Amino acid sequence: MTSPTGIEFERWFDALEARHLAVLTFPEVRRAVEALSAVYVERRNRLDSGADLESAGKRAAFALFYAPLHFLVADHVARALPLAEGAPQRVLDLGCGTGVVGIAASLACGNVPVEAVDRNRWAIGEARWNAETLGVDLRARPGDLLRQRPAAGRTLVTLGWTVNELDDSMRDELSSRIESWRLAGASVLVIEPIARRMSPWWDDWAAFAAARGGRADDWKFAPQLPARLALMDKAAGLDHRELKARTLWVPAQARP
Ligand SMILES: C[S@@+](CC[C@H](N)C(=O)[O-])C[C@H]1O[C@@H](n2cnc3c(N)ncnc32)[C@H](O)[C@@H]1O
Repeated sequence: MTSPTGIEFERWFDALEARHLAVLTFPEVRRAVEALSAVYVERRNRLDSGADLESAGKRAAFALFYAPLHFLVADHVARALPLAEGAPQRVLDLGCGTGVVGIAASLACGNVPVEAVDRNRWAIGEARWNAETLGVDLRARPGDLLRQRPAAGRTLVTLGWTVNELDDSMRDELSSRIESWRLAGASVLVIEPIARRMSPWWDDWAAFAAARGGRADDWKFAPQLPARLALMDKAAGLDHRELKARTLWVPAQARP
């Protein structure tokens, strides 16, 4: 299994830094990391209006700070979970943002192609650039994640840090879609923050996964952060020396 941790990951991070610090300074990105963290933690009601990606600073913070952290978590869980079990032929990354969850899942499954969808057009461009830099074949397009359908057959659908951004009715609609995708041969990976208050629906979804042969896991591990990422983390008053997340994995319905 290929995994661009270590040197390749560092190279990607260096390229990300060169891309984003060509436009903004380190202190500007640091302030934006603080502002973006506040949107995620304290002002979640503003997410609906796209407050997370409304300024160049927040977009850079998302791309340069959160994307590597999300990649490290996705890579860690994708290698620990039995994602490759059903030999997925492709990944469909919904609410892909910068594409890092789909890319990590693809690499854990032998570098299969990724289809990536997000409602934000800037994110689509970033996902394409990340995939190209990390050597993954990714096609990204703008769209609503509820209007998508995995191609027939063995698709791994990924939803990274996205389900908690949906309102109750969208989330209910998504769970019935997941059921129909599963019956049609797709498996599903959901990654979410560990904080329960962000996902009060978690226990219901975990029961849904368990009843279909899937699993719910909590993860905690100490990543090897690139020095400049660790510096940004500290400078922004955050602490990601330990990364945490929770996941749901739902396998495809077994064929008779
Ligand atoms: C917190 S970000 C996570 C992005 C990425 N999956 C990651 O792990 O870094 C949530 C993403 O979901 C997207 N999103 C939220 N609701 C959506 C919807 N209804 N349809 C498509 N994308 C959506 C947002 O634009 C944003 O890029």
